[in-house]
Amino acid sequence: MNFTDTHCHLEDEKFSDDLPDVLSRAKNSGVSRIINFGSTLESSELVTELAGKFDFLFAGVGIHPEETENFFENGTPDKLAELAKNKKVVAIGEIGLDYHWEKSSEGREIQKKIFVAQLDLARQLNLPVCIHDREAHGDTLEILKREGKGLRGVLHCYSGSPEMAKEIFKLGWLIGIDGPLTFKNSAKIPEVVKAAPREMILLETDAPYLAPTPNRGKRNEPAYLIDIAKKVAEVRNEELEEVARYTTENAERLYNLNGG
Ligand code: NI
Repeated sequence: MNFTDTHCHLEDEKFSDDLPDVLSRAKNSGVSRIINFGSTLESSELVTELAGKFDFLFAGVGIHPEETENFFENGTPDKLAELAKNKKVVAIGEIGLDYHWEKSSEGREIQKKIFVAQLDLARQLNLPVCIHDREAHGDTLEILKREGKGLRGVLHCYSGSPEMAKEIFKLGWLIGIDGPLTFKNSAKIPEVVKAAPREMILLETDAPYLAPTPNRGKRNEPAYLIDIAKKVAEVRNEELEEVARYTTENAERLYNLNGG
């Protein structure tokens, strides 16, 4: 059985002491491919470098909504485009909106502007998009409807309602499922996972964050993807092998992981 962890941050300093062990545990658990996403220019460079060192690692480059300072002044879109020339860069992300930390309407307007600029970049580069949407479901959906034409991508760490998920699927976008599905208080997520068409589901850990049960609260790592996959199988009443097969196919199709 093979899995792809479609959203990770292995460039994070939390992995600086034992990355080789983390990677071998991933392989031993059947996680045969990992996509790391940048949140700043620096981390976008790091994930691209890391992808150059291991053939089973891939990268996404982008600026997270909490890291938008001096985006235009620094010529960030050109720098991201330069990084994206690397053939191991398979996406623009993670980009989007985060209203949990940003409460001011000026700050939120800046986030929107930078989100749209990076959607435009993805369109120019013909790359899929990985979206971060925290407590900004309405605006995210509205921007995707208005500015997402010709784009494909995923709402990573999906936390919206079952109704919003339907809208997302109508647009042809996927959802990423993470550790919170395994939490006792996971509320709407099992309902979303149960109702999702199988071609719309990606598995991801978001390591080092959001470790699934039974490692909740600890540092997350790609090997724990299996705990999320098992929960998806349980909620959807499917065999784990099936979940492995279709989520891998979905990752390959969205991110063109087989090249060509
Ligand atoms: Ni992330």
